[in-house]
Amino acid sequence: MNKELTQEMIEISIPHRAEYVSLIRLTVASIANRMGFDIEDIEDIKVALSEACSNAIMHGGCPKDDNFIVQFLLEKASLTISVSDFGKGYQKESIPEPNTEELREGGLGIFIIKSLMDDVHIDSGNNQGTSIRMIKNLREES
Ligand SMILES: Nc1ncnc2c1ncn2[C@@H]1O[C@H](COP(=O)(O)OP(=O)(O)OP(=O)(O)O)[C@@H](O)[C@H]1O
Ligand SMILES: [Mg+2]
Repeated sequence: MNKELTQEMIEISIPHRAEYVSLIRLTVASIANRMGFDIEDIEDIKVALSEACSNAIMHGGCPKDDNFIVQFLLEKASLTISVSDFGKGYQKESIPEPNTEELREGGLGIFIIKSLMDDVHIDSGNNQGTSIRMIKNLREES
């Protein structure tokens, strides 16, 4: 980020197709690397963002030609990423917490995002689309 600026915003509009997740992974790796995140944090951010994009593609796609939006907010001490789709949305209360002792396939994406990022907020509702905002803080240099 330009050192004189306190924040910069980058926004990408993406078709609801799984093949674009790799493009997002490359993009966020490049942004996070430039901001000074270490390799471990970059991997965590890539996994979390992939899960959010997969959800937008798998569950959030309503009209086929309506893209979803990924927004990156670059600040001195943190990276905030928002993934917004305009699909059918869902009731957060209706999704059970995953039972980690009884591992089954599926139902882990949001749990993974919450465990990898420092702060996660989800806005969703019936027919209102879904927006997930996740924040990763830069570690203080020791
Ligand atoms: N963008 C979205 N639009 C609509 N519903 C969503 C969206 N994201 C998540 N959901 C709902 O929340 C549920 C839980 O999402 P989560 O990512 O945790 O699991 P999953 O996508 O079902 O499985 P996995 O991510 O492990 O492959 C989904 O099954 C879906 O019902
Ligand atoms: Mg998922």
